[in-house]
Amino acid sequence: MNEKKIIIAIDGHSSCGKSTMAKALARQLGYVYIDTGAMYRVVTLVALRKGWIENKIPFTKKIIEGLKDIQITFKWDEKEGKNTTFLNGENVEDEIRQLEVSENVSPISTIAEVRHEMVRQQRENGKNKGIVMDGRDIGTVVFPDAELKIFMTASPEIRARRRFLELSEKGEQVNLEEILANVEGRDKIDSTRAVSPLKQANDAIILDNSELTREQQLDWAVKKVKERLKENDC
Ligand code: DC
Repeated sequence: MNEKKIIIAIDGHSSCGKSTMAKALARQLGYVYIDTGAMYRVVTLVALRKGWIENKIPFTKKIIEGLKDIQITFKWDEKEGKNTTFLNGENVEDEIRQLEVSENVSPISTIAEVRHEMVRQQRENGKNKGIVMDGRDIGTVVFPDAELKIFMTASPEIRARRRFLELSEKGEQVNLEEILANVEGRDKIDSTRAVSPLKQANDAIILDNSELTREQQLDWAVKKVKERLKENDC
């Protein structure tokens, strides 16, 4: 593919396979992949470890003060063949995917100062383009000028089943109804929060992958990238 690089913003509901597609696309294009949900999960993990969340209510002031001590980095794990998230150099990839973190992350991601700091770091990562970033506000807030914006979705039932299988495969004891409730609850918080709610950017293309295989959705995305590169005369 062409030399010039673009920014690809992938937003959408939780557990609809954004990161799977974003990772595959980045690999295929030789781009950097940034999982912004992982960044909010890391902040949540720190808050849980420090006892800054009680009954799902975050101690906002403590969390904001703690932000300066959180350094988030990503590394490609050759052995596992996956992107890995680090908190101050500690591999927290598995821990941030656990249900306890999923159940507490939405309220953390509504804190304006947390979002502000995460967006600052995300923009820093994307300044040289050649990036695929997934999240909720990438096409609307982080990179409103991204050359390609994709808004992904799938039905809540399908998304819950996918997450259930993912966690079960890792040996976690999980319950499908609980996961469905979590998926629906997060949809609601993500779409109705005051700061940067999840919404489709006007110029985003919708991808409903309820009935698509991973290969089909990747082919679809690669085609869109080629179109954009051509349109942008890259
Ligand atoms: O994509 P995920 O499930 O790992 O995201 C975890 C949470 O972080 C999700 O509930 C919404 C929030 N999030 C966000 O508010 N903005 C982003 N750019 C990415 C995730």
